[in-house]
Amino acid sequence: MATRGGFSSRLGFIAAAAGSAVGLGNIWGFPFEVGQGGGAAFVVIYLAFCFILCFPVMATEIAIGRKTEKNPVGAFTALGYKKWNWVGKMGIVAGVLILSFYNVIAGWAFGYIFEMASSNFGIADQFGEYTTKIFKVGGYGLLFMATTAFVVSKGISGGIEKAAKLLMPALILMILTMVVYSLTLPNAIDGIKFYLVPDFSKINGSVIYNALGQAFFSLSLGMGALITYGSYVNKKENIVTATALITLADVGIAFIAGLMIFPLIGFMSGGTMEGAAGGPGLIFVTLPQIFGTIGGTLGTIVGTLFFVLLCFAALTSTVSLLEVPVAYVVDEMQVRRKRAVWIMAGIIFVVGIPSLLGFGYSEFFSTAFTTFKEGGTDTDFLSFIASVANDSILPLGGCMIAFFAAHIWKKENLDEELAQGAPNYKGSFLQKYMNFAVGYLAPIVLGTLFVLTVLFKFFGISII
Ligand code: PFF
Repeated sequence: MATRGGFSSRLGFIAAAAGSAVGLGNIWGFPFEVGQGGGAAFVVIYLAFCFILCFPVMATEIAIGRKTEKNPVGAFTALGYKKWNWVGKMGIVAGVLILSFYNVIAGWAFGYIFEMASSNFGIADQFGEYTTKIFKVGGYGLLFMATTAFVVSKGISGGIEKAAKLLMPALILMILTMVVYSLTLPNAIDGIKFYLVPDFSKINGSVIYNALGQAFFSLSLGMGALITYGSYVNKKENIVTATALITLADVGIAFIAGLMIFPLIGFMSGGTMEGAAGGPGLIFVTLPQIFGTIGGTLGTIVGTLFFVLLCFAALTSTVSLLEVPVAYVVDEMQVRRKRAVWIMAGIIFVVGIPSLLGFGYSEFFSTAFTTFKEGGTDTDFLSFIASVANDSILPLGGCMIAFFAAHIWKKENLDEELAQGAPNYKGSFLQKYMNFAVGYLAPIVLGTLFVLTVLFKFFGISII
């Protein structure tokens, strides 16, 4: 066990886990999902999912990881339930799929550092063309994957922890500054209304399923990333407090990213909010325009710095995504860490190629992946994979992990693990809520939503 390494401090774990949670999902994914989901109604459902359902699942994942000191597959075996390790295997598949497309977006963001540094704010209008330059953006993606692999190969406290501690606060500061700026722009208020005043008539099945997928994706849940990180956590750590801090940091940063983006869209659309449903390209179109309106050297500096920090946020997430299959291969197949890292990174990059081609370069990968969403509109490969991994596998994983912890491993054991390092946990209201949520609420709600999501997205059957 000694060779597995571990986090060197309390803050180290929280920073690394929050670093995993906070990433493109918050700054790229959340605003575009809100935009497509019709605004504030999506936000309300998203927040409810995060606090009511995701919180208990997160504490459970960390507890299983810390108890077993294993990767998501080995963890089930270590608890004596080898038959359940398919849940971990499914998580590893999800991790591979998610990282494969995540890296494509990270590659775009990486390339934007250079676009902004050369004051090319006009890229906003040429984004559609930018994504078709696959050798350029693919090259940036390759560099990004190599950087991720390099950090992961350094092991837990050496690479992951250091990077996370330094850069997260810088990113938060930067976004807050942008929020203040965007709120001063004309028509900012229309953006705020869209973002914060819910129109509940906009809620439908699709909004609910996407909000759930986004909550799981953003919190890095359902695929064992937090089992893996939990496996490096000290027994004295208070898991419940850590879970609360990670959830708050993640939700808080997504929320302020929305406060930054929607006033900007209000401003640029002259108050109509047209363009809010721009999809995966949203921030890549909105933000350069705004850096352009700041103008001059300041616009260049702010724009460049923003994408530098975004890339760092993405890096602390890609690192955790790669860590999941790597920990599995290292623990279960006795492969050396360095070797495992580079092989997995290579495989995942290749798996991501269709996603890379699916933004205009290849007609087939750009439009052929109909998921029946909204009556069968064409979808690109990346969105299709996100429907499979984020919206389907992650909630199913969360459902199974909760069910397993409460009914197979047994809730007394979960309680015991959670109480270690949390002296007031036993007998508290939170403990009662956790027992209810992990035992019943999460398995039932997540299981039901999983079935409904699959029926709707892949078979065109709409029940709600
Ligand atoms: N939570 C990350 C984000 O919001 O960008 C993405 C992610 C990381 C998902 C790690 C899943 C995971 F295991």
